Amino acid sequence: MSDSADRLWGARFKTPPAAALTALSRSPEYYFALAPYDLAGCRAHAHELQRAGLLTAEETGHMTAAIDQLDLDYRAGKVDPIAADEDVHTFIERVLTERLGALGGKLRAGRSRNDQTVNDLRLYLRDNVRNITTALLALQKALIFQADQHTHTLAPGFTHLQQAQPIVFAHQLLAHAQSFSRDIERIQDWDHRSAFSPLGAAAMAGSAIARRPELAAKELGYRAPCENSIDAVASRDYVAEFLFITSMIGVNLSRISEEICLWTSRQFRWVEISDSYATGSSIMPQKKNPDIAELTRGRSGRLIGNLTAMLATMKAMPLSYNRDLSEDKRSAIDSVDTLLLVLPAMAGMIETMKVNTGEMLAQAPDGFTLATEVADWLAMRGVPFKEAHEITGKLVQLCEFHQQGLSDLTDDQLAEVDVRLTPEVRSALTLEAAIHSRDGFGGTAPARVSEQISRLKARIQQQAEWVSVYQGPRL
Ligand code: ARG
Repeated sequence: MSDSADRLWGARFKTPPAAALTALSRSPEYYFALAPYDLAGCRAHAHELQRAGLLTAEETGHMTAAIDQLDLDYRAGKVDPIAADEDVHTFIERVLTERLGALGGKLRAGRSRNDQTVNDLRLYLRDNVRNITTALLALQKALIFQADQHTHTLAPGFTHLQQAQPIVFAHQLLAHAQSFSRDIERIQDWDHRSAFSPLGAAAMAGSAIARRPELAAKELGYRAPCENSIDAVASRDYVAEFLFITSMIGVNLSRISEEICLWTSRQFRWVEISDSYATGSSIMPQKKNPDIAELTRGRSGRLIGNLTAMLATMKAMPLSYNRDLSEDKRSAIDSVDTLLLVLPAMAGMIETMKVNTGEMLAQAPDGFTLATEVADWLAMRGVPFKEAHEITGKLVQLCEFHQQGLSDLTDDQLAEVDVRLTPEVRSALTLEAAIHSRDGFGGTAPARVSEQISRLKARIQQQAEWVSVYQGPRL
């Protein structure tokens, strides 16, 4: 094969491409891994060419058989891209032409790599958002597994990283599960908006040959073809939005990671990570480190970086296709790989961690976490909250001075601060009372937390179903 025949575009060039151009232009290896999606697009396109009369039924049969065989061979590692294959589309056309002769060269009619690359990435992402969803569901199940056991485990809750009010530990764990659940809803919204086929757009103006894009779209599991062929090849908001979602997941993961780092510290002693999910130090034999949480926190920076890289690439880019857009796969595939690595590690670590309930209970009243109970108690007896707040503040001052806790105050001490602080206030000054009194919807009362768990489990069930009903292209 001559040099120009190796390329999809060599004929009008007098000299071969410089090595530096080839090195810059060639796709990274992971882009070739989109081959099964490209082959699905090839199958649909072969049918489109048959409809257009460019392939006979017999030729279509040969073509789709060769596509199926290449798919099998590629997956079995029997055929690989060579250095001269600029991208996955070039690779596939080369092999089909080697195998089918002139017939292989017919498949290029009526399409362009500009619509192919969008098709490949959309199909890849539609598949992988489901893999990410499944991994997020497993993480939520791990959180719920722990929450189920800790609906009565008392712990201090925090604001400003200062002890705030008593909570049950399940409530804190479920707060994280709630954000992961919303991340999945974001994924579902994304999928609804992104399920449009770019095929038929060809280079940018639409195709004079592939003129039934609604049928190709259906064959590939999309809702419909894109409304506008220029938008089909030029837009990457579906990539940027995907990268926002993965960044949000990364940030949510980073926040729980940070808490796990705190909880495992000697200062907190709330949680012990299972040996299988912790690491040691090469110099300090006593160390047990929460590396999974730290690596996850670290990788979230990379997820955000991928989003900002994509947005920066898109900004001020004229429509329609420009080669800059090939950066999309770099960001998107890296974010998929990152999450699929991080999520199972986090789920395993959380599911197997041991919670030190005694330590949490001992710390629950620290830092006057029951102070709000006093103020609420006064307010419920008609004292304006502004006053109730001041009275309670004075109580805290008194306790700090005598180095005692709120529940150790004597009747005299209470009355000394304010006569309205009768001994009955003590009934409100227990952790149990504090927890159970917060029994409005969404509060930390154990009964409410159990209901929250039930609703979350139901949502997990629905989201798992959403994953399982997906019918993408035959891969
Ligand atoms: N390899 C390109 C990409 O990654 C697709 C081909 C783009 N089209 C072109 N005319 N060079 O997006």
